[in-house]
Amino acid sequence: MIKKVKTDQLRVGVFIDDLNFSNAKGKVFLSKTLIQTEKTIQIMRVWGIDEVFIDTEKGLDIKPAQSAIETRKKIDRDLLQAALMSSPQTPVVPIGEELAIAQTIKVEALNTMQRTMDVIAQGKELDNDSVFGLIEKMANSVTRNRDALPLLMRIRSKDQYTLTHSISVGSLVLAFCNFCGLAYEVTINMAVGALLHDVGKTRIPLHILNKPGKLTQQEMDIIKKHADFSADVMAYSKELPFEAFDIALHHHERHDGSGYPHGLKGDAIGFAAKLTAICDVFDAITSDRCYKTGVSELAGLKTLYELSDSHFEKELAYKFIKMIGVYPIGTCVRLDNDLIGVVTGSTNNVQQPMVRLFYDDKKRKPIKSEELDLTKVGVNIASYEDLESWDADMLKLYKSLKTALNPLKQTGSAEGRL
Ligand SMILES: [Fe+2]
Ligand SMILES: [Fe+2]
Repeated sequence: MIKKVKTDQLRVGVFIDDLNFSNAKGKVFLSKTLIQTEKTIQIMRVWGIDEVFIDTEKGLDIKPAQSAIETRKKIDRDLLQAALMSSPQTPVVPIGEELAIAQTIKVEALNTMQRTMDVIAQGKELDNDSVFGLIEKMANSVTRNRDALPLLMRIRSKDQYTLTHSISVGSLVLAFCNFCGLAYEVTINMAVGALLHDVGKTRIPLHILNKPGKLTQQEMDIIKKHADFSADVMAYSKELPFEAFDIALHHHERHDGSGYPHGLKGDAIGFAAKLTAICDVFDAITSDRCYKTGVSELAGLKTLYELSDSHFEKELAYKFIKMIGVYPIGTCVRLDNDLIGVVTGSTNNVQQPMVRLFYDDKKRKPIKSEELDLTKVGVNIASYEDLESWDADMLKLYKSLKTALNPLKQTGSAEGRL
């Protein structure tokens, strides 16, 4: 029997006979189809298809039960609650050990993502196996040590922004999911979306994407189309999870409805898109671009904090700030015994990170030290160290230590262009 039902009532196993949708625009793969995954239903909803005709002889009938949309909303609520309630997982290996492995993963990621973007630019099909293979390696690295890969991704050339930004956001999402104690499968699904969230930029003309000056309204409107373009790639890649589609389409939506492309508000934005948006903005504002210098991590956290009420799920943004830490890696700090060092990693206590000491300010001379876990030696940070007051030799010493961790950044502006 053919009958008309609301898209919200659909679930896996129902056969769609006709979309009842006049503006199908190439979305024909949804007609005469057995719904095999929840992703298909979510895509129909996002494309504004409110009602469809189903064939109950070729698939399941609609019975009064929880719909796919209701199920999705409940999953999102549960994930948010789990992310906010959990305690951070403890790193398995020290950052120094993981950095060497993470470096090889970074090289592989750059190659894989370059190939992926080339394939998309040519309109060919995504190689899902290589994307998932890469994400699993990145996830294993982050499980061993949450800080190493995101930190390495901070060191990059501004000329390859879209490429390095995508990998960086992927590694930040992995780290954030790890910090939130989320399940492996959920983490992988979200990280695939984060890695591919901006692939739609391959369809934006480079002279607009890399324009050094201010964009005109028309150019801005063209750039905004990248979210739709990314979502199209996700929708037509059948093996990608719904989270990838949701992230691609909605990573520029903002909690107060000021985002794009749909101006969604609050809980209308899925958990995966909410979480990725925080990582996306943090990476964008702390990165050097062809038209601006990125702000320091500390300044980036301040901006996130200021935007947390209006742009993000507030508690989730606070949790991200907690993960990056009050003392981000590379920050120069003074301990309460007047020893000076560089923050090299996180611990379970955001007030007492890992620190490598390099100067004794009481004796006025450089010192050599191993990485110290401040939670284990029982020493506290007294303050941020003011680099302005240092002489050239001390600055050189600090910079040589920091170069291995993160390029020194001093200036920049508020939320990035993208
Ligand atoms: Fe984007
Ligand atoms: Fe982005």
